[in-house]
Amino acid sequence: MSRIYEALKRADDERETPPGLEDDRVVELASDNRVLKWTSDYRFEESPAPKSNFVFEQVTKHSWSPSAVSLPTLADRGAGVEQFRSLRSRVYQARYESPLKTLLISSGMPSEGKSFVAANLAMSLARNSMNNILLIDGDLRRPTLHSLLGAPNVPGLSEYLSGTAELNSIMQRDEIPETNPIRSVTSVSNLTLIPAGKCGDNSSELVANHRIDERIASLSPHFDWIQTDSPPVLAVTDAVELARASDGVLLVVRGGTTPFDVAQRTQATFKSSRIIGFVLNDVKDRPRTGSYYYYYGGPESSGKSNRGEEPRSHE
Ligand SMILES: Nc1ncnc2c1ncn2[C@@H]1O[C@H](COP(=O)(O)OP(=O)(O)OP(=O)(O)O)[C@@H](O)[C@H]1O
Ligand SMILES: [Mg+2]
Repeated sequence: MSRIYEALKRADDERETPPGLEDDRVVELASDNRVLKWTSDYRFEESPAPKSNFVFEQVTKHSWSPSAVSLPTLADRGAGVEQFRSLRSRVYQARYESPLKTLLISSGMPSEGKSFVAANLAMSLARNSMNNILLIDGDLRRPTLHSLLGAPNVPGLSEYLSGTAELNSIMQRDEIPETNPIRSVTSVSNLTLIPAGKCGDNSSELVANHRIDERIASLSPHFDWIQTDSPPVLAVTDAVELARASDGVLLVVRGGTTPFDVAQRTQATFKSSRIIGFVLNDVKDRPRTGSYYYYYGGPESSGKSNRGEEPRSHE
C-alpha cells in the first residue's frame, strides 16, 4: 500500500466528518508532497511533519499594547469587525477549494493598507477559534506589525536571517494578564508574532538569499495559519520572494488611491503565485459608517463551491 494511500485511509478512519462535508474529499496532496488532512474542526493537519527545532512552549511572552484605532477587529462589533469577518470567510472558502495555510499580504504601492489588513485578518482569525496563527512581518524596510500590536520589534526576522538570533527567540506571544480583565478582552493567546527586527540596507539580500521558504515550511506543522506582511511589490522584489514561501497571495488596493493600471501590474507581478483575491480597502463612499473593506474573490473562487465554512466562533 502506498504512503499516500495509507495516509488517505488513516485520515478516513480517524476523521469525524463535519456536517455537510460527507461527500467531499478530506485529504489533499500539497505540491511539496505534504499530506494535508482536513480535520473535523476545520483545520489542515500535515503528515509527515518536516523537521523543526521549534518548541511552541518556549515562545517568549510579552505584554502587548494593541492599538484599538488600527485594529478595529479588537472590538466586539462594528463595520470593521464585520468586514474582516467577511474577508475571513472568503479566505476559509479559498482554503476549502485548495490547500492554503501560508498567505502573503501584498500590494503594488506603499500605504495601500497591507499591514492594516494583515494585522486585522490575523486578529480576526485568532479571535474566531483556537487555531494557532503565526503573523510574520516580512517588510524589513518599514516594519509595522509590532507597532500595531504594541510589541517589541527586536529580535526579529532580520536578526534571524542574518544569523544573530535563533528561531525560537524571534517569536513572541501576548502575555495574558490574569489580574486585568479589561486587557484580557483584547488579548489573544493563539497569535504568535515574528516582528521584522532592525532593518538594514541589505533586507532584499536577506530575504532572497536565505531560503525563507524552508524556514516557513519548518514552522508550518505548528500553526493552522501563517500570514506574512510584505513591502510594496512594485517598489522592491522582496514580496515576490516571500510569495514563493506562500500557498496564496492576497492583494490590497486602496479605494480612491490605487490606479487601475497599478492593480493590473501588481497582479501580473505575482503571475507565478496563486492569487486568492483583492481586498478593496478603505472605501469612503459611506461617510457616516466609517471605513469599509470589501473582498473580491479572484478567478480561483469564481463559480466554485461556497462551503469553506469557518471553525466554531469564539467571538
Ligand atoms: N481601512 C483603513 N481605515 C483607516 N485607516 C487605514 C485603513 N487602511 C490603512 N489605514 C491607515 O493607512 C496607513 C497606511 O496603512 P498601512 O501601513 O497598513 O499600509 P501599507 O500598505 O502596509 O504601507 P507600506 O507599503 O508602507 O508598508 C496607516 O496609518 C493605516 O493605519
Ligand atoms: Mg506595511
